[in-house]
Amino acid sequence: MQQLILTQPDDWHLHVRTGDMLKTVINHTARQFARAIIMPNLQPPVTNTEQALCYQQEIQKATSSAYEFTPLMVLYLTNSTTIEEVKKAAESAAVYAFKLYPAGATTNSNQGVTDLQAIFPVFEAMEKYHLPLLIHGEVTDAEVDIFDRERLFIDQKLRVIHQSFPTLRIVLEHVTTREAVQFVQEAPPNIGATITPQHLLYNRNAILVGGIKPHYYCLPILKRETHRLALVEAATSGNPKFFLGTDSAPHMQHLKENSCGCAGCYSAYGALELYAEAFEQANALDKLEGFASFYGADFYELPRNTKKITLEKTDWQVPASYSIAKGLQLTPLKAGETLHWKLKD
Ligand code: DOR
Ligand code: ZN
Repeated sequence: MQQLILTQPDDWHLHVRTGDMLKTVINHTARQFARAIIMPNLQPPVTNTEQALCYQQEIQKATSSAYEFTPLMVLYLTNSTTIEEVKKAAESAAVYAFKLYPAGATTNSNQGVTDLQAIFPVFEAMEKYHLPLLIHGEVTDAEVDIFDRERLFIDQKLRVIHQSFPTLRIVLEHVTTREAVQFVQEAPPNIGATITPQHLLYNRNAILVGGIKPHYYCLPILKRETHRLALVEAATSGNPKFFLGTDSAPHMQHLKENSCGCAGCYSAYGALELYAEAFEQANALDKLEGFASFYGADFYELPRNTKKITLEKTDWQVPASYSIAKGLQLTPLKAGETLHWKLKD
């Protein structure tokens, strides 16, 4: 049987929620990854270090003792985030970054930032304290076409932030366009990007051809094939600016299969297998370890993991759904389909 032995990877962009959902999804992640950057878009959001410590404890409690797993916490930027909060976060051992959600851009972003200029002093403090800024890079103006929102964010907002704070470490999260890839490639090494499995595997036809398929709906939305090809090229190029971040974002099935369905694809159950599929299609399995296990750790200035994991070339069927609580189901990406790589326990 064909095997792939890799250094254990980390997930540099993950949503795990709380309560019953957390109890299921965190163990899917902890089975695969040593560490994960935990997104703070809870309701209410995680905006200060005390809340991050509480949330970290809840995550640790929900994680099976069979796994060695470290949740790396992130604070949610609001219009009222203070410089003192940045200092506290920098001094805490739990917080690794701040996340910028332009208000209205995505799930639970309503308390996000409405005026970027107003929080420039906070960016300045993050630059000073060497804390990365993680960005959901989409403009939110109602008149802007949803497929153009990332490209316009880069031109109208990201270039200004980067020019104003040239040594601020920035991760443009879940890049979805050729323009985002190009921006990151041309920027200095303090600018990186995460790439999700769904944006490597699918283009926008997955959502819309043959009926509306809500389980492929995430934000930023899947784009045209030319963009997917640019992302595959970036992920498999061996360029250390591009690294693994699943953006696995679980929502209950009835909230996705809804007349106003939530954004998010659930991939944590088989994240590595999904990436392996994408890298194999591009004939680049030899580039998977750098992308999944090295470049993110290097960007965050954390030690690389030393444990190894094994992927085996064997077919298995993705469950139609995971049961979260009585009557509540979670539908994974590729539900009911066959995957060709399997993580060995
Ligand atoms: O599709 C998404 N889901 N994109 C995001 O930015 C947020 C996430 C979520 O929290 O559900
Ligand atoms: Zn996300």
